[in-house]
This record gives sequence, structure tokens and C-alpha cells, in this order.
Amino acid sequence: MEWLREETNKLKEQNLYRKRLLREGLKDFCSNDYLALRDHPEVIEEAIKTLREYGLGSGASALVSGYTKHHKDLEDILADFKGLPCCVLFGSGYLANLGAIHALAGEGDALFSDELNHASIIDACRLSRAKLFIYKHKDYEHLEELLKKVRKDYKGCFVVSDTVFSMDGDIAHIPTLKRLCEEYECLLYLDEAHATGVLGKSGMGGLEEFGEEWEEYLVLMGTLSKALGAYGAFVCGSEALCEYLVNRARSLIFSTSLPPAVCAGARRAVEILRREVWRVEKLRELSLRLYGELKGMGFEVYYNRTPILPLMVYEEKKAVELRDALLEKGILLQAIRYPTVQKNRARLRLTVSLRYSEEDLELLKDAMKSIAPPPNP
Ligand SMILES: Cc1ncc(COP(=O)(O)O)c(C=O)c1O
Repeated sequence: MEWLREETNKLKEQNLYRKRLLREGLKDFCSNDYLALRDHPEVIEEAIKTLREYGLGSGASALVSGYTKHHKDLEDILADFKGLPCCVLFGSGYLANLGAIHALAGEGDALFSDELNHASIIDACRLSRAKLFIYKHKDYEHLEELLKKVRKDYKGCFVVSDTVFSMDGDIAHIPTLKRLCEEYECLLYLDEAHATGVLGKSGMGGLEEFGEEWEEYLVLMGTLSKALGAYGAFVCGSEALCEYLVNRARSLIFSTSLPPAVCAGARRAVEILRREVWRVEKLRELSLRLYGELKGMGFEVYYNRTPILPLMVYEEKKAVELRDALLEKGILLQAIRYPTVQKNRARLRLTVSLRYSEEDLELLKDAMKSIAPPPNP
């Protein structure tokens, strides 16, 4: 097994070695619990009540006996929240993308994927036997060029994009993607993992953000694991899509369904979000404020109406050094490096959450000041 050690050592030499850090005792500034729903008292209460009644695990896959009213109720509220006819749950966002994209796109089809899409989409595209075309990040002229050139050679056509890009926090231009998909007769698959609870006036996601309507060729995937503070994922679309996925998505068919207590807690989180729409606006205000403060300290940081604020460092070694300096001060702010982002595009991915108190923010600001770039002469 010497090769294992050699491979890991190579990662260390390249500053690409990863280790899991125990979160306890640290102030976490990089989670995706944007709306502070994961430990909302009502969410916890609902989950505990269901846990007592159903036990810990669901016991089987959804198609065997692992489908309960808590799964059904969550699917119904998610479909309604997203404004789509139907919704199907999956075990996680990774499993949802893998299962749905693999089930939809096959041999003889073409998949068009943004170069910065999440790893689960990349893996799903590889797993499907469709021909894969990667277009430059949010470069829809490039996408159209590709569509113009090759669309006619394939049966089915699928355009896949994150709605909010997870490591940059920027937003796909949904109206343009819709126009192209209509013109070239493609299905548009949007990963709304970081858009759900974040975009639009009420956190519905990308369609609300751009004032767009759902159309039948649109599939929206989302996760429960980020702004909704739970675990698991879902794919929304037409009734026909849901029926098809239940029959064809292997990660749904051959994997145990979500624990009922998680479904019940997540349903309560959606209810809270719908009742307390102010959370979405408050998150935006806080993100903008923090962005301004970090920019004022001299960081190269970006804000795109989302709570993901990447602080660009570029060099992997430097990113690790900065992360370690912050750890010394009790702050957890992970260094994101290749292969999560491209080489020499390392960053500290700061995320904003309603969990942060003013005291937390002061702690963060003091720590960030200590690692801020020197002022320009
Ligand atoms: C855009 C995107 N899609 C999918 C996923 C996977 O979701 P999950 O963590 O629920 O597996 C993530 C999470 O990292 C993500 O950022």
C-alpha cells in the first residue's frame, strides 16, 4: 500500500492535501446554513416528534417501504414553494444530480454543461452515455455556437447549469438559457442548491429572481442541505418527469430514502421560510454589508446577490496559510482549492449566515484585518 502514501504525499507537495477539521470550538464562517434554519426551535421540535414516532432510519428505499406521509408532505410543499407541478426526493444533492441526469440523458443525446458546474453534475454527465459539450462559464454565445454546430446531430438535448455557482456565488442568466433551450429544443436542468432560499424576493430561486415562468422543458433540482438547514435533495418538474424519475433514477431506486424525521424537519423549515420572508432580504443585506467591509480591508472579494463571498487568493499555498492563520484565531474559513476550483484559483469561501451575531462579526472582522493584504503604496 506504499502507493497510497506516495499519492497523498504528492498532494501535500502541491498544497492540495485535505484534512477534515473538527468544528467544535471554532466559529464557523463557511457553512451553507444561510438562513439559520438548521437549529430553529420549531425545526428541532418537529424532527424530534417524528423521530420518536418513526425511529432513526426510514428502513428501505422509497419504492419498497421507505415512503411515508412525511416524504409525501415534503414533496408537496417543495413543489408548491418552487411553483412547479411535482417533486421527487433524493438522498442528497449529489445523488439527485447523479440519478436524474443519468436517467434523462443517454446514448445519442447531447449534454451541454457550464465549465463551473458542481462536481456532482460533472460526474453525472460522465456517467450518462450522452455526448458531453462543456461551454465556457456563463458564456452563452459559446453555448449557442455549440448548439448551432452540433444540436442537429443528436436526438435529445440537455443544457445543465448551476443557478448559483457554488464556489463563485454568481448567478446563471436564466432568461438566456430559456431562450436557447426553446430555440434549440433542449431540456433545461438547473441546479438550485444555492438558489433555494436565497434568490428571488421570497427565496423561491432562479425563476423568481428573473421574473420567469416555469415551462415544461424546465427541471429544477434543489437541496435541503443548504439554506433549508437539513439534509437531502429534490427534483421538481412536470408530473411526467416525476413518474419517470421514480422509475428510472437509480440513486432513488437503489438507495434508502431520507429519514422521516429529516423530512418533517425540512418541511417545517420551508414553512418558516414562507412565513418569514424577511430572512431572504436580511441575508442579502448582511452579505452586502460584509462584502463592503472586506473590500474596504483590501481583499479581492465578490458579491452577486448571494451569500457566497469568495475571497480570491489564487495560490494554493497562500490559501492554506491564510486558513491556518484564521484557525489560530478560532475561525473556520476553509481554503478551497483544486479540484473544487481550477488550479491557481484558490480562495477562502466565506459564506454569510443569519446565525452570525454582531459579536461573531466583530470577531471575524478583527481576524480578517490581521490577514488583509498590505495597503497599496
Ligand atoms: C451546486 C451544488 N449541487 C449539488 C450539491 C450537492 O448537494 P449535497 O451536499 O446535498 O449532496 C452541492 C453541494 O455541495 C452544490 O453546491
